[in-house]
Amino acid sequence: MMENSLKQFADEHATAIGVTAFVGIGLYAFRKWMAGAVCRSRAKLDGKTVLITGANTGIGKETAVDLATRGARVILACRDMGRANRAAVEIRQRSGNGNVVVKKLDLASLQSVRDLAKDIQENEERLDILINNAGIMWCPKWTTEDGFEMQFGVNHLGHFLLTNCLLDLLKKSAPSRIVNVSSLAHERGQIYFDDINLERDYGPRKSYAQSKLANVLFTRELATRLKGTGVTVYCLHPGVIRTELSRHAWGRIYFWMKPLFAMVMMLIKSPWEGAQTTIFCAVDESLQNTSGLYYSDCAPKEPAPQAKDEAAARRLWDLSESMVGLD
Ligand SMILES: NC(=O)c1ccc[n+]([C@@H]2O[C@H](COP(=O)([O-])OP(=O)(O)OC[C@H]3O[C@@H](n4cnc5c(N)ncnc54)[C@H](OP(=O)(O)O)[C@@H]3O)[C@@H](O)[C@H]2O)c1
Repeated sequence: MMENSLKQFADEHATAIGVTAFVGIGLYAFRKWMAGAVCRSRAKLDGKTVLITGANTGIGKETAVDLATRGARVILACRDMGRANRAAVEIRQRSGNGNVVVKKLDLASLQSVRDLAKDIQENEERLDILINNAGIMWCPKWTTEDGFEMQFGVNHLGHFLLTNCLLDLLKKSAPSRIVNVSSLAHERGQIYFDDINLERDYGPRKSYAQSKLANVLFTRELATRLKGTGVTVYCLHPGVIRTELSRHAWGRIYFWMKPLFAMVMMLIKSPWEGAQTTIFCAVDESLQNTSGLYYSDCAPKEPAPQAKDEAAARRLWDLSESMVGLD
């Protein structure tokens, strides 16, 4: 009886069932594809120290949980101490590692960057992995405390200064690694050397792309300068991830598009999935002897042609040095 009614239902709704199954399998396959690769390294980090910028949320927080689970002392360098302290409690709980500390860092202030670097130089015996993860995307035309365009200032200049200030400690701790979290958005980027703060023609996307291209060029030039020191450098695109990064875009989305946007958010990478390439670059043994490359989904990837321009990388280095006041 039951069998007959099931069969009758299937016959009557054959098309709808077929379409639902097709869409379901398609969405499942798409979600699997979006999830990307997972870092399979079992490397332990007992006795090592890691510093991660912007680790109170998003992929920075997931990276911190993973590296703390591997035994590292993890320093969360964040601008909002309330959020950072709450994240630290969660990271200690999830990793079972109590050696997770919070330090203040506002990348939109060169003074704050210098203060953190001084604190680390004076109080940390070693620094094995520096992860320049913090980022801001598509914000309005804002400037940093020092008058730089906000996205270039935070995403590139703040990390440029922090890294340079910590190089001696990284060299002393070699073999050590620097990981710069860039983005696929670098492919649309260009470095506007004659208007670096985009004063003449600001665009939120244009500025983000410039800053993410700067991350790749910085990685390239830094790797060249660090040859033979035992400090290696990597940059990466983490994927498209459900984090707070789109906070400045949300207000500009038409209200009728928001449900669609929310649905898309369900299909993209989770923060844990988004952290995998950063973790891979930070710990995977296979990368020990490579430096200066760009990664995506736990594998090397060719960056855009403008990200391989060595003259531009050197010019950006010189410009950044003079902007942040480095000798
Ligand atoms: N999500 C994606 O789809 C995606 C794609 C490609 C690349 N990325 C890159 O991945 C990195 C991490 O982004 P996410 O997706 O995890 O974004 P998120 O959830 O918004 O996290 C960004 C982190 O950066 C911090 N930050 C922002 N401005 C700062 C400042 N002035 N000083 C110090 N910290 C600051 C934030 O602190 P607050 O919480 O205090 O704001 C937060 O901790 C970024 O570099 C981003 O460009 C992300």
